[in-house]
Amino acid sequence: MTVEVDTEVLVIGAGGAGMRAAIAAAEAGCQVVVASKSLLGKAHTVMAEGGIAAALGNVDPEDSWEVHFGDTMRGGAMVNNWRMVELFCQEVIDRVIELEQWGGVFSRTGGGLISQRAFGAHSWRRLAHIGDRTGLELIRTCQDRLVHTQGIRVLMEATLTRLLTDGDRVAGACGYRRASGEPVLIRAASVVMATGGWGRMYRITSNSWEGTGDGAAMAFLAGAELKDMEFVQFHPTGMIWPPGARGILVTEAVRGEGGILRNREGERFMVRYDPVKKELSSRDVVARSIFKEVQAGRGSPHGGAFLDITHRGPSAIRRALPSMVDQFSSLAGVDITKEPMEVAPTIHYTMGGINVVAETGATTVPGLFAAGEVAAGLHGANRLGGNSLGDILVFGRRAGEAAAVDAHTLRRPPAPSRLQAEAEWRMVFEPLERECGESPFALHRELQEAMQSGAAIARTEASLRETLATIEALRERAGRMAVPGGPAYNPGMSTARDVHFMLIVSEAIVRGGIERRESRGSQWRLDYPERDPELGTLNFVARQRDGQMAVLPVAIPPMPAPLQELAAGETRVAATALADAADLRAQRHRGAPAGGRRP
Ligand code: FUM
Repeated sequence: MTVEVDTEVLVIGAGGAGMRAAIAAAEAGCQVVVASKSLLGKAHTVMAEGGIAAALGNVDPEDSWEVHFGDTMRGGAMVNNWRMVELFCQEVIDRVIELEQWGGVFSRTGGGLISQRAFGAHSWRRLAHIGDRTGLELIRTCQDRLVHTQGIRVLMEATLTRLLTDGDRVAGACGYRRASGEPVLIRAASVVMATGGWGRMYRITSNSWEGTGDGAAMAFLAGAELKDMEFVQFHPTGMIWPPGARGILVTEAVRGEGGILRNREGERFMVRYDPVKKELSSRDVVARSIFKEVQAGRGSPHGGAFLDITHRGPSAIRRALPSMVDQFSSLAGVDITKEPMEVAPTIHYTMGGINVVAETGATTVPGLFAAGEVAAGLHGANRLGGNSLGDILVFGRRAGEAAAVDAHTLRRPPAPSRLQAEAEWRMVFEPLERECGESPFALHRELQEAMQSGAAIARTEASLRETLATIEALRERAGRMAVPGGPAYNPGMSTARDVHFMLIVSEAIVRGGIERRESRGSQWRLDYPERDPELGTLNFVARQRDGQMAVLPVAIPPMPAPLQELAAGETRVAATALADAADLRAQRHRGAPAGGRRP
């Protein structure tokens, strides 16, 4: 039986951005439905562990939103949407206080204020945190607020796979219930897309199964633009061993708390790549440095680097990094209070996404809004750690409020034609009807291999073009997928639909990577190793053109002079003193100069 629902605002995705948007829309007086293909509270938000970047100035009173603005623009290599950065750095402070008022139990300074820790490429100790479980506590706090807010209905395990339109306006979405396979149709006056990012088209990622790019692909097919898709973030430190744990995040908070990266020779190699910020350099720089060490034959036994925090002592480590202690002990049998962790870069975040208006999250499609990781702009070419948890609070709220205003101004209820939904359901269920054909799991695996080898941390024109050819071949084969069994809880059926989404998103990543003929932020082109100042004035935007994807350059609007001044400053180093002192002790012990190699 088809599940049919009518609402004013539909929020797709129930991570931090989706929940914050739903709360805002409901508080603005709307009936809201939140649809999640997973469970409420099970979202990649929990993988942002180290904290929320906000210039509260609790630990370093010199901090201000202006310094945060400069750090974020420089971290993003200046192709960020500067208006989003301005709003973000100003408003995230209030969003952190609000989260505390909603029950978020932050770690404390000695004086009882919200504690703030150092993170990569932030000039001051800026990350308000809850041990190393900040994302998890953010989700729990928002979840608690959401279930106590009038007017919100949550549909869990409801996978929405197509946006429905009424004229040129988005008017709801359709899909299916995972548990029963029943078709779902939701009519809505406005829709907030908050489905997060996409790491699952890569082999090594911190993303769990949900991160398949559904939201970006659905929005694209409904006519929205995808911006700066080439920028995919490798978090420098994921677990690398044992194989079953590969890719799981090792929070940047380890480095924020004084962790030191060393190669197999015992050298603190970040001293060579960024002598000032060292381990607290931006993620793109640290990830590339580990990659280069491995390429040079100085990697750890499983092809990464060592991350050592033992010098902080067991009680400080257990207090600041309880999850990391548990994670390494249970998954790898490693006691991080006594031995170094082995780590390697892992796909963690996608800076690109749906092109939105800074103030409202409005997309180019009437009635469709987007917030959080699925939206582009705030982070430019590289996101600073800690800026995503603030992003989802600031822009989730803004998008929810704007969607509510939009819904209230609509003159008649949305009436999407049922034919669109029926076409979608045919596509979802079709693989169940084929006796034999391509396996969705095999296609997914082949896509992961192609993206990991051709469109990952280091790229060239040739590697990107080869990946594009693979994507095109996979798309052709995806038309012949076959899945045994029925529609209830059938992972093959879900993967078959996801493969189509991942192919669209992968194509946008690769085409963007080809067009941006330079190295900037997370995009490292071996054939164009330098930044091109002209390309620094452009975003690349994917649009549908005659049924194909076209990626075109779009000029970034000029930044007002006062903001230009803020962005022109230097990022200072927040706190490497603990790591520096430990390195000095270790080198003295070995009789080598600080930062140098083991003799
Ligand atoms: O390393 C981390 O804790 C991740 C934080 C983030 O992605 O913002």
